[in-house]
Amino acid sequence: MTALELRPATVRVPCSTSNLGSGFDVLGLALNSYLEATFEPAGDRLELEREGTLLGLAEDIENDHLAWAFRAVMAANDTEPRGAIRATSAVPLARGLGSSAMALVAGNALARAALGLDASRDEAFHAAHARDGHGDNAAPCAFGGLRAVIPGEDEPYVLGLPLSPDLGFAYAAPSLRVTTDAARGALPSHIAHRAAVLGPGRFAGLLHGLATADPDLIRIGLTDELHVPYRLPLIPGAHNAMGAGYDAGAWGVTISGSGSGLIAICPQEMAERVAAAMKGVLCAGADDVDCWGMAMEPDLNGLVVDLG
Ligand code: HSE
Repeated sequence: MTALELRPATVRVPCSTSNLGSGFDVLGLALNSYLEATFEPAGDRLELEREGTLLGLAEDIENDHLAWAFRAVMAANDTEPRGAIRATSAVPLARGLGSSAMALVAGNALARAALGLDASRDEAFHAAHARDGHGDNAAPCAFGGLRAVIPGEDEPYVLGLPLSPDLGFAYAAPSLRVTTDAARGALPSHIAHRAAVLGPGRFAGLLHGLATADPDLIRIGLTDELHVPYRLPLIPGAHNAMGAGYDAGAWGVTISGSGSGLIAICPQEMAERVAAAMKGVLCAGADDVDCWGMAMEPDLNGLVVDLG
């Protein structure tokens, strides 16, 4: 293996809420909680230090998403990955904010920066999508904002969509984690024709509602029959927490990604209140340490390399 010279590098990637109800497996929105990773060349092997929520990961470095993506880029460029990655995240794990996709995007971008290659959101997106298949998380992580991932003949196409600046977002999650594998395992292999026909109408309403901050269209668009009804039973208290979110002023509430978190859309000034109401139900009686409730804002930047 020829060894390209490695250099220090830093990247930052936002989390994302995917699906948004009727946008199942298509739509994702970047939100303002982040994974940051730095690389320092040193030694004769790759080391990984985790901080923040990443301390909750049990996987060793061989099975870590970020380190896997980093190594893949190094191998494609015939370079031994020698050095230390330090990764820190504020994003809850397995709670519907795309923590796996953001790690794959971060690992790809960090390796390119360490090799002195130009930053490439396209490559980070395609590499993450090829690895885990969840482009509706990887696209907003890489590009920021509201993104639709459209099946292409060869590769998926990422479309940026308008998002009203008047929307507030409230997120809450219980201490219980739900893996994407478990959440996909709850889905039926077939759905009724009626449910399939309702989906595109709701999705059209959702896109216009998100662009114009229309409360009725957002409520209708966050309604779904393809995944939400099958996944709600995996999240104790979710049904009542959604009700609490509506009572506190949400225009619409749904499962964030594949759960276990919930995401509500509401007027900005009500986001803290809606998040607290949902958290109050999801976390009733639970140890509060790993339980979540927070107002969030869209991230319009996506992947940032070399924070300066
Ligand atoms: N669209 C995917 C799902 C996202 O809901 O299964 C997983 O993060």
